Amino acid sequence: MNLIEAMEQRHAIRAYTDEPVNPAVLDILQAEIDACNQEGGLHFQMAAGFEDAFLGLKTHYGRFTGVHNAVALIGRPVGDDAAEGTTPNDTTTTDAGEIALQERVGYYGERLALRAVQLGLETSWAVLDDANTAEHPWWCLHPGEKIVWVLAFGHGARPGGRRRSKPIEELCRIPDGMAIPDWFRAGMEAAMLAPTSLSQQPFLFTLHEDGTVSTEVTEGLFAHVGLGCAKYHFEVGAGRENVHWRDTTSGEEAVGAAD
Ligand SMILES: Cc1cc2nc3c(=O)[nH]c(=O)nc-3n(C[C@H](O)[C@H](O)[C@H](O)COP(=O)(O)O)c2cc1C
Repeated sequence: MNLIEAMEQRHAIRAYTDEPVNPAVLDILQAEIDACNQEGGLHFQMAAGFEDAFLGLKTHYGRFTGVHNAVALIGRPVGDDAAEGTTPNDTTTTDAGEIALQERVGYYGERLALRAVQLGLETSWAVLDDANTAEHPWWCLHPGEKIVWVLAFGHGARPGGRRRSKPIEELCRIPDGMAIPDWFRAGMEAAMLAPTSLSQQPFLFTLHEDGTVSTEVTEGLFAHVGLGCAKYHFEVGAGRENVHWRDTTSGEEAVGAAD
């Protein structure tokens, strides 16, 4: 299954069976986690075979059952005082380090989710309220780190729901008079398959005259994480060789393998 097929097949699955995930599959996922941590400067950690990998913590919304496996999406906001004055999972932050972390977690977390789908598994993103202060967690937080989101995975107990999307015109802009290039359209079609909280798709991609692409968040819950997911999809759909990010809103290089 290629990545585009994985995007089409992926759905948020919140109920899982008790069938364990094959250890060889866990090894492949762990290797992908290691690669994401290395490339993204993150500290993702995996748990498998738990009775309840969510440790009884409440999710921000949605009812989850049988979550035996999960990846804790952990990282450290970049910048000297980035962690000051923000609460865990702060979605209204204007702190550049916090924003950059949320986007990076979206980008690499979605890369992992699609890898899991390629391996025959189901996934769902979730926010665990109070995860940063959980007692006896299976993840470990180094100084300055926070658990940003979690990705549940396993064998789904039921199929995912039907996907809906805003029309492409609402999600991107191209210069006046320019016909939408094939690579940009393919990128947008992939971005439209990305998971976003409550399916709000709070992102806008802009193609500029010089061929660079910038992105911004629009109104929505956990928008920066959703944008990160969409940017990973966009790069895959458009072809990395075509994507030249102009986006430097965080004051740093934008996430992504493309330059
Ligand atoms: C950043 C982010 C946070 C999410 N948080 C939750 C959550 O707390 N609870 C939940 O049930 N689903 C959560 N989701 C899953 C979305 O609701 C789901 O992906 C979206 O409704 C689209 O459905 P689909 O993934 O099947 O396409 C989250 C997704 C993202 C990307």
